[in-house]
Amino acid sequence: MPGDKSISHRAVLFAALARGTTGVRNCNAGADVRSSIHALRMLGVAVEGDAPSVRVEGALELSDPRSAVDCGNSGTSMRLLMGMLAGRVNAELDGDASLRRRPMERVATPLRAMGADVECAAGGLPPVRIARNDEPLHGIRVELPIDSAQVKTALLLAGLRASGETTVLGAGVSRDHSELMLRAMGADIAVDAGGVRIRPSQLRALDEYEVPGDLSAAAYFVAAATCSPGSRISIRDTGINPTRAHVLDVLRDMGAHIGIRALRERHGEPSADIEVVSASPLRGVELDPARIPNVIDDIPLLCAVAASATGTFVVRGAAELRLKESDRITSTVALLRAFGVAVAELPDGISVRGGRPLRPPERIDTGGDHRIGMTAAVLAAAARAPIIIDDADCITTSYPGFDGAWRAALARES
Ligand code: S3P
Repeated sequence: MPGDKSISHRAVLFAALARGTTGVRNCNAGADVRSSIHALRMLGVAVEGDAPSVRVEGALELSDPRSAVDCGNSGTSMRLLMGMLAGRVNAELDGDASLRRRPMERVATPLRAMGADVECAAGGLPPVRIARNDEPLHGIRVELPIDSAQVKTALLLAGLRASGETTVLGAGVSRDHSELMLRAMGADIAVDAGGVRIRPSQLRALDEYEVPGDLSAAAYFVAAATCSPGSRISIRDTGINPTRAHVLDVLRDMGAHIGIRALRERHGEPSADIEVVSASPLRGVELDPARIPNVIDDIPLLCAVAASATGTFVVRGAAELRLKESDRITSTVALLRAFGVAVAELPDGISVRGGRPLRPPERIDTGGDHRIGMTAAVLAAAARAPIIIDDADCITTSYPGFDGAWRAALARES
């Protein structure tokens, strides 16, 4: 699997703030992480090599970028950079048409409460303008309005060099890669049930950071193997951080046969080999709204598996899906309907009535959303029919080489 996208962003960005040089291996080579690397270079950080293998030289000072920093399609790059740069440089962060529709005020508001000068364009959208401060930011105690790992991370990065301590509350179950990596790099950080507290700290470089495989990429293979009778697949060294692995629990609840072997841990991040054999019958389940942040990126593919299951699969409390690379409630519903699946669009979720034979269309369009493209591949595999995925280039956002890996996995079937 390609390196985990979330962890790769953090590895390169945090390394840029550390004393010393960090070698990042199995760094995700998709366009999103490239946007983070491109931003670092514009800020004067030396990044040698090219993903999947880069060396980042920590920079104690960052320079003002000469032009707007293009974050491409990557919400993670923009939000994490907002926290990292607030108060520190004069910069403008911009992105593509999809990113220009995604909310940034959720990061700007708490940063302003820390004393930062951060302005979004009308409606709280990109481009985002950041101005250098004479005074350091000051630590705050802040309650997140939504359980977002991106917002949490932005505030922790700002807190790293604020005066006093910063406490982020309300980041209940969202992914904790930042907390683990900051701790491994020597930050003064503490996590308890109430929240995450960080004190000003100088990060130390990690000699070598090997990024585990991306579970959110592996999940498409797990899903396809689960609903294609006669399949068996083995996926090596994939991250199984509990804040991300809920997708495997949900698939198991639906009847999937998933084994975990060769568990290991690097810098606090657990990874393992995942083994899957196809399962039948599968059944629909109701997702626990409290765990939505743990499966937020996997909901389209879970809906695809639900199409092959009996009963109804229900997602509620997931309005955040409307604010991703596409409105993923509408785009997932449209994709399933194109395969003849009985599906209802809810204001904050999706309900899938499975069990009807899939009627694959000749072609579908991703609408520029990589996860919709890969979910279409799962549905085509389950239907055992070739389809054409238009506008498939966007899959390289998170998974360059997906087409070859998918073809190889299907070719070995039988
Ligand atoms: C991410 C967190 C999630 C996720 C995104 C990556 C991260 O977003 O959807 O793909 O790397 O922190 P939110 O934290 O905004 O929900």
